[in-house]
Amino acid sequence: MSGIGDKLRHYEGVAKVYDEFRPTYPTSFLTRLSDALTAEPPTGGTVYDIGAGTGIFTRQLRALLSATMPIVGVEPASDMCAHAAASVAELPNIRFVNGAAEHLPAEDGAGRAVLAATAAHWFARAQFYGEAARVLRPGGVLAIVQYFRDKERSPIVQDFLGYLLDNDARRPPKRPDYLAELEARPEFGPIEQVTDLQNLPLSFSQFVGLALSSPTTRDVVDRLGQAKVEGDLMAIARRHAVGEDRLAYGMVFQYFLTRRVS
Ligand SMILES: C[S@@+](CC[C@H](N)C(=O)[O-])C[C@H]1O[C@@H](n2cnc3c(N)ncnc32)[C@H](O)[C@@H]1O
Repeated sequence: MSGIGDKLRHYEGVAKVYDEFRPTYPTSFLTRLSDALTAEPPTGGTVYDIGAGTGIFTRQLRALLSATMPIVGVEPASDMCAHAAASVAELPNIRFVNGAAEHLPAEDGAGRAVLAATAAHWFARAQFYGEAARVLRPGGVLAIVQYFRDKERSPIVQDFLGYLLDNDARRPPKRPDYLAELEARPEFGPIEQVTDLQNLPLSFSQFVGLALSSPTTRDVVDRLGQAKVEGDLMAIARRHAVGEDRLAYGMVFQYFLTRRVS
């Protein structure tokens, strides 16, 4: 398995493009998640967002959860973390710290919730689940959230992934079977799975920016050059236009939510 330094290579130095072009999570999907966080005990405790990146998901949580509920984002890539911290300077009860999923910077039992949004595929998860169990108080929520391209249903996604493969991009890592992994952990109870299919309305340049925010696409840029890849991506966008400068990009949003058993 590659080390954390190797994984971070994919996220250092990309905070600006990442924050501008990565999608936010659909409101109805996040409302369901935040309702689950607050529906049952425990009372008190901090909400931790692990692998917080530039804080896209963390800021959305801040907008939905009561301002009295502390939120801490944990992120190992220093420029992502700095970007996230600067973005919440005006917001209440939210901060970001440098840290990693395998050694959470939190006291035993301090957590009301431990969340990871589109990040847990990078973690050494056996260690992370142990850390989540340590940090969560009984009844506290562990939720693995993710989005991924909808290659089953979305023609533009199929076209784009074909382009990456044709240009020898390494295959994206296989998505973990979070359900099976969580079921195997005795520290956690029944698992709720929620899946939400979305067609993101994007302009052509938003599609190009989203594509370039992916480590896999940046491998192709390293080989072919930025201008060539941007031109190729614009050609893909034009092939799938649904209006002037408009396309619909298929994305799957999903979470797996469980609770720390006492
Ligand atoms: C795809 S980004 C997701 C960012 C954010 N959660 C969001 O939804 O936009 C994945 C993040 O996981 C972070 N990451 C990678 N390995 C990690 C680890 N072992 N522990 C914590 N975070 C990690 C990366 O630095 C990156 O910021």
